[in-house]
Amino acid sequence: MLDALSKSFFHGLARSQTLKHLASRYGMRRPRSFARRFIAGETIDEALDSARAIQRTGCLITLDQLGESVNNAGEADAATRTYLTAVDRIVAAGVERNISVKLTQLGLGIDRGTCVDNLRRILDAARAHEFFVRIDMENSPYVEATLDIFETLWNAGYRNAGVVLQSALFRSEEDAKRVNALGARVRLVKGAYTEPRAVAHQDKADVDAAFVRIMQALVADGVYPAIATHDPKMIDATKAFAAGRGIAKERYEFQMLFGIRRDLQAALVADGYMFRVYVPFGQQWFPYFMRRLGERPANVGFVLKGILGER
Ligand code: FDA
Repeated sequence: MLDALSKSFFHGLARSQTLKHLASRYGMRRPRSFARRFIAGETIDEALDSARAIQRTGCLITLDQLGESVNNAGEADAATRTYLTAVDRIVAAGVERNISVKLTQLGLGIDRGTCVDNLRRILDAARAHEFFVRIDMENSPYVEATLDIFETLWNAGYRNAGVVLQSALFRSEEDAKRVNALGARVRLVKGAYTEPRAVAHQDKADVDAAFVRIMQALVADGVYPAIATHDPKMIDATKAFAAGRGIAKERYEFQMLFGIRRDLQAALVADGYMFRVYVPFGQQWFPYFMRRLGERPANVGFVLKGILGER
């Protein structure tokens, strides 16, 4: 209950233009500014520097150009071109070829055709350079369209892509079977959005129990699933389930967000698990940043300290 309240409070704040203005002014201004704890930088150069540093510690990476919900086809085209430039820059930099994209950034909220065309452009460029493209999952109104577009492109031969399922949503257990049947890769998360009770579990215990059930379905029957969580209980449940089934560490991976639970990140690498860091970058970091605060309001303390220190 408290979790849901905190999430909706911060999602509400995320719509405040004054706060956005204030945060944008101070959040990334200096090397130690507060938003840099969760965001790798505003430019691709900063993101590539972070990616290299993370890879040196034995982690895998995926790069995410932040942005969501564009308002017209021109903005969707601009976001797509930014991704195409990022693909070239990643190749030139020699870091791991793995990116994450959001479909509303490519025009899903405008019309499906625009979005599919833009995603195809990214998948074509990615395929030419042997990239893996993860399609992030957004809030529930977009879930069916996202899975449907993914499935259509998968069946059209785009096999360099994977999708995300959220354990908060009732439908995800069936969706896991659907994606397993395709033989495609799933990233499992709890879900970052405030969702209505008609479609989603409201209690953390139910979200966690569903996470464990879906994790088991993916680790047992899926293709190289990604278990994306900072929750030690979910991580331990995954390790125990895989070990009990004799499933090798190379057949699945853990993922965490840049800057969160760095202690656990290091421990997974030290224990020989496959582990990937999600590295977000770009100027449109504010909504992503606010979702991270909503997940753990204790983070607000260091943000406030950061803002006061910046003035
Ligand atoms: P939970 O929220 O229960 O937290 C467990 C513990 O982790 C906390 O007690 C705390 O110690 C730590 N923790 C969690 N969040 C923290 C924070 N912000 N700051 C500090 N500590 C924190 N969601 C989505 O809807 N679509 C998507 O595509 C993705 N993609 C994605 C990729 C990757 C790699 C990850 C790790 C997560 C996502 N998410 C996502 C976000 C996900 O849905 C979820 O909101 C967060 O991971 C938080 O949930 P946890 O599983 O960490 O558990």
